[in-house]
Amino acid sequence: MAMRIDGKLISAQIREEIREECAAFEKEAGILPGLAVIIVGENPASQVYVRNKKKACEEVGFYSVVYELPEMTSQAELTALVDELNRDEKIHGILVQLPLPKHLDETDVLLRINPKKDVDAFHPYNVGKIMIGDYNFLPCTPAGVMALLTRTGVEIAGKNCVVIGRSNIVGKPMAMLLLHANGTVTICHSRTKNLAEVTREADILVVAIGKADFVTADMVKPGAVVIDVGMNRRADGKLTGDVDFASVEPVVSAITPVPGGVGPMTITMLLKNTLTAARDAVKK
Ligand code: GUN
Repeated sequence: MAMRIDGKLISAQIREEIREECAAFEKEAGILPGLAVIIVGENPASQVYVRNKKKACEEVGFYSVVYELPEMTSQAELTALVDELNRDEKIHGILVQLPLPKHLDETDVLLRINPKKDVDAFHPYNVGKIMIGDYNFLPCTPAGVMALLTRTGVEIAGKNCVVIGRSNIVGKPMAMLLLHANGTVTICHSRTKNLAEVTREADILVVAIGKADFVTADMVKPGAVVIDVGMNRRADGKLTGDVDFASVEPVVSAITPVPGGVGPMTITMLLKNTLTAARDAVKK
């Protein structure tokens, strides 16, 4: 029987630590960590994410502001808001919820955010810092996966780590973090040949491809640790991951469920990055 890695529980523990650190920071610095979230348009999934981010900030005692801009917002208007938040001393973290409406240039907006306030770690400056292993901010989802692994005592050094997926938000930084932790890392993607042969070599398998129930029992090594980053909605409305949990769970030593695995960790890591940004801002 595999251990179920409980992301809800680990997330709650880390959020409690952040709440205590926030209170200590306020005593010391006389201010609260502040996060600004910008959402443009009315994407329902984005609206839920943004609401959850605001609620999470309130629970740990952060200052937070949400800017809900209309769908027809221009690039210039969005840029002006980012510039204003870059100057705002109460704001230590700026997050522009993606995806943006099609007429807006995402890259241009992300480049505009002061890298010191880039709590998503999407700015090329921070991406570069991650590459060289000298970082303040880690992108929230890969950071959440690392926290799940370390807090459940999974040894990474010397292990075969396979990441399925090569996105800028998850796959690529995930591989880099596992490499920094001395894993032997392979990145697989849609053009990988003999995928199952590669994934069967994995001691740690991280799956982030956005295909429901894609990884099946024949693709995992007995005793492996499987981390499912997927979040897919089935036809019946139920949430499911990228891993076929029912068939894979009996084969592996530990696995994250969906929901309740990686999901809750992402916002927790955003809170952590915001606290780090606030600490750095007062250090100067
Ligand atoms: N949209 C989906 N995930 C994310 C995320 O981690 N950050 C931002 N800014 N937008 C997202």
